Amino acid sequence: MRFRLLALAASLLVLSTAIGVRADLRTVGPVDHDPWTLAPRPQKSVLDGVYSKSQADGAKVQFDKLCAECHAFTVATKRKAEDLPLGDEPFFRNWEGKPLAELVSLIVFTMPNDGRAAVEEAEALDLVAYMLQQNGFPAGSSPLTKATASAMFTRPKM
Ligand code: HEC
Repeated sequence: MRFRLLALAASLLVLSTAIGVRADLRTVGPVDHDPWTLAPRPQKSVLDGVYSKSQADGAKVQFDKLCAECHAFTVATKRKAEDLPLGDEPFFRNWEGKPLAELVSLIVFTMPNDGRAAVEEAEALDLVAYMLQQNGFPAGSSPLTKATASAMFTRPKM
């Protein structure tokens, strides 16, 4: 009887330590872990449908007005020699592995770079959605938001 109680106490201790460790892993550290398998949760990428079609469609007018003059999406469709395509190389190489939030900040802080009114964050999120659509990345059910902009950029699947 006494042994059983001891065994019970010991297993409870082991169990609570395990739960404690799990809780720590879940909340501490840069990598998000699945609380049950303890496996690191894979980070979402632009291949996972991180913008909605209506968000991207809605941003076309703004892109044409504020950005298209200097940016196409492929090297072949550049209008001027100095245009910097927001697709193709070296764009993919520059942004591979980086979170979309960095693209959003770059746009908010530096674009359009011809002295016209700066772009608000919400507008930049929509413009990034349009860029993803024009590069052939799949749309999903929810629009790209500040919270989901932690998704990382990666090359389109060929
Ligand atoms: C007058 C020309 C011009 C306009 C208009 C313009 N850009 Fe740019 N953009 C540039 C240049 C030049 C660069 C290269 C970096 C720099 O000089 O700041 C650049 C860089 C970028 C980059 C980084 C590209 C890379 O390969 O890393 C992004 C993204 C971008 N622009 C998005 C936009 C968006 C979105 C708009 C519209 C809101 C816009 N730009 C409007 C000229 C322009």
